[in-house]
Amino acid sequence: MTEFAADLAKFAEWAASLEREIEATQIVAAAPHDDRVFPLLRAADALRLGLKSYQWREMAKYLRSLDDLSPEGGRNHRVTLSQVHAYLDHRGIRPKRPDSSKSGIRVAVANFKGGAAKSTTCLHLAISLAMRGYRVLAIDTDPQATLTRYLGYRPWFLNASQSLAGTWFPQDYFMEPEDVAAAEAQGVQGLDQIVFPEPIKTHVDGLDLLPGSTGLTEIDVDLITRVGGQDTPQLINQLDENLAVYAKDYDIVITDFQPAFSLFQSFLLKAHDALVLPVPTESADVAGTADFLHQVSQVLMSFERVDGVHKVWDPTLVVHTKRRLKNAEVVEAMAGKVFGVHRPLVHVDDSTAVSASLSALKSVYEAISSDYDLRAIKRARDQYDAVAAFVESALRKRWFEVSGEERYGSQ
Ligand SMILES: Nc1ncnc2c1ncn2[C@@H]1O[C@H](COP(=O)(O)OP(=O)(O)OP(=O)(O)O)[C@@H](O)[C@H]1O
Ligand SMILES: [Mg+2]
Repeated sequence: MTEFAADLAKFAEWAASLEREIEATQIVAAAPHDDRVFPLLRAADALRLGLKSYQWREMAKYLRSLDDLSPEGGRNHRVTLSQVHAYLDHRGIRPKRPDSSKSGIRVAVANFKGGAAKSTTCLHLAISLAMRGYRVLAIDTDPQATLTRYLGYRPWFLNASQSLAGTWFPQDYFMEPEDVAAAEAQGVQGLDQIVFPEPIKTHVDGLDLLPGSTGLTEIDVDLITRVGGQDTPQLINQLDENLAVYAKDYDIVITDFQPAFSLFQSFLLKAHDALVLPVPTESADVAGTADFLHQVSQVLMSFERVDGVHKVWDPTLVVHTKRRLKNAEVVEAMAGKVFGVHRPLVHVDDSTAVSASLSALKSVYEAISSDYDLRAIKRARDQYDAVAAFVESALRKRWFEVSGEERYGSQ
């Protein structure tokens, strides 16, 4: 054996050591979740969220009447996001799904092409929609748990049963046999039952998270062994039922997908009402997107023949991510021709401001001037705001069609 030989014990040692190192450096990169605070908002930020100037002043008056804002500061005061939401609630203008719609819209952010900016798009969409006042649940279904990390949680401190896998397997599935025995000896019951995990709170008011975990891969293993049996139609739609349990408590559910084709991810796509398809403008990413569309249509069509459910994602929106000037025109023209009304009307440029924020495990909404050039951060924020507004208006259109209500929670 040469000095380059490594065995599984070595892999495990590397994994543990890497986690320790990441843990140590993450303290520098981003505060651990408990210390993480969303930045205070100024008047300009509130205007970006759609508040009018007079509402900013009215909010100050309201908060002062509650003794929730210091008397000084005038127009230059700053408020927390939860104070903005309290004001919107007080005025009855917080946006929400219509009352006639019993469940939130489940939006998949999916493209099996790796690195298409799924997690980044999910992060910014979820934060931006929560900032506007919607109750948002972000679901991380990637064992890499990128979105979970961006939201300040270290996956190795979470149990797999806290992820979507917890809705699939009984509690004892994720426990060491000796821990099960010890719990049972103490009289704990029901460990052989499935208990849907509570979403965890994030530092963004209005945004909760069902975190990612390596345990999510087990869903696919389970599906592979069971699909084709008698309960196949039920199995195909199990994730749909599981997600529906969460959707009723939120306006919008946004799910980050894995960069891999699998039964789990295919059925998960079927469990969503709407689709945001991030497509970078590099030609390899465009080709990868075609593969994604091929695979999904072939697999889900074959399952449509089994369960008879004709799936429609409404809305289905394409968004250009990591847009590079070099290729943009050609790819945009191509996307316009291919996707028609679904074509990308909004884009996010490939920008060091985004990658610098992400490497500090923050969204661009939280980046500060020491993270990167402030003008570039602002440009990236504007672009993500435009993506969120684009998605929001399509969701509202669907809500309007479903509810027939003229206005719902609009300002
Ligand atoms: N607008 C952008 N400008 C520059 N870099 C970006 C931008 N958006 C995303 N990135 C970078 O691209 C990489 C991939 O992004 P991200 O993790 O969001 O993609 P993904 O599709 O979720 O990846 P995976 O397929 O591994 O899940 C990351 O390193 C991220 O920092
Ligand atoms: Mg990802």
